[in-house]
Amino acid sequence: MKNFLDFSDKTVVVIGGTSGINRGIAELFARHAARVAVASRSQQKVDDTVASLRACGAEAMGFSADVRDPAALASGLATVHEAYGPFSVLVSGAAGNFPALLTQMSANAFRAVIDIDLIGTFNVMQAAYPYLLKPGAAVINISAPQATIPMEAQSHVCAAKAGVEMITRCLALEWGAQGMRVNGIVPGPIDGTEGMQRLAPNAAIRDAARDSVPLRRLGSPEDIGNACLFLASDLGSYVNGAILPVEGGWLQSGAGGLGRMLATLARPGTASAEK
Ligand code: HXC
Ligand code: NAP
Repeated sequence: MKNFLDFSDKTVVVIGGTSGINRGIAELFARHAARVAVASRSQQKVDDTVASLRACGAEAMGFSADVRDPAALASGLATVHEAYGPFSVLVSGAAGNFPALLTQMSANAFRAVIDIDLIGTFNVMQAAYPYLLKPGAAVINISAPQATIPMEAQSHVCAAKAGVEMITRCLALEWGAQGMRVNGIVPGPIDGTEGMQRLAPNAAIRDAARDSVPLRRLGSPEDIGNACLFLASDLGSYVNGAILPVEGGWLQSGAGGLGRMLATLARPGTASAEK
């Protein structure tokens, strides 16, 4: 019987793959025999991740690049292509987040998140396109509940991730004809990650987030990695343009009113802080 989750002889590239959820995704592909390349800004984080991927028994490499720098992405991806050949899987997950009400943000603060999440996704898609396996590549963009659930203190992230989901759906059309599939994943609140540290920095908010998930647990990077394996394998060969929630049903509860709690963090002493 065919093992659909055997990624040997396949090249998987994870942009923003050096911590948290995306690193978990990279490690899962490594454990399924893929050749894995990761990229992010910090050379130290790239080196650490490559070492851990090799410890999983995988061929691995990485490069340092800011997704806001198309030239750095292009040259790093060219190096990966030269070493590992066409990309069977591309995961794009670099993102920035901090809780801030719109009136507390400078234009530069708003722009920073748009530049990393939204323009960064555009840059990654454009720089990787020449190297994607045609036909056959699977592209996965990492979104967030903010793309569809409006949240206080998250206008920058909501706007950026909504755009990421639309890029994903548009590329499913543009690239589908070339035999490539483009999908998105919406992680729920994932335990132990930078995102949760920033948006749920104390036990009260973390517990409230967990209790608002219908399954009553926080997610793990492996939960998201498993969904990536499905989307990237032939098991998902007729899935294109889907935005797959992997969140224990959290979207059904409007992400548990996280935005209201964030407003209290962003501006202590306001009416919402006193509730
Ligand atoms: C208001 C803030 C701010 C804050 C930064 N800024 N933090 N404004 N409140 N808390 C402002 C700065 O003052 C600056 O504006 C502008 O934002 C850019 O900041 P820099 O530090 O110069 O930018 P940069 O070095 O590029 O860093 C980007 C960053 C940073 C987003 C600000 O936090 C970062 O690199 N984050 C990456 C890791 C991360 O965020 N991971 C979590 C992803 S979780 P001025 O006007 O002063 O120049 C996620 C979803 C989680 O995406 C969902 C959970 C449910
Ligand atoms: P994280 O640990 O902060 O991971 C972000 C990754 O992107 C890191 O490898 C970081 O490395 C890299 N990165 C950040 N800015 C970059 C830039 N400008 N250019 C290149 N790389 C950059 O975050 P996380 O919490 O695991 O979140 C990962 C993804 O899941 C994000 O897309 C996030 O929106 C999404 N998400 C997270 C949660 C959650 O609960 N955590 C929920 C929903 C969605 P460097 O610092 O080295 O650049």
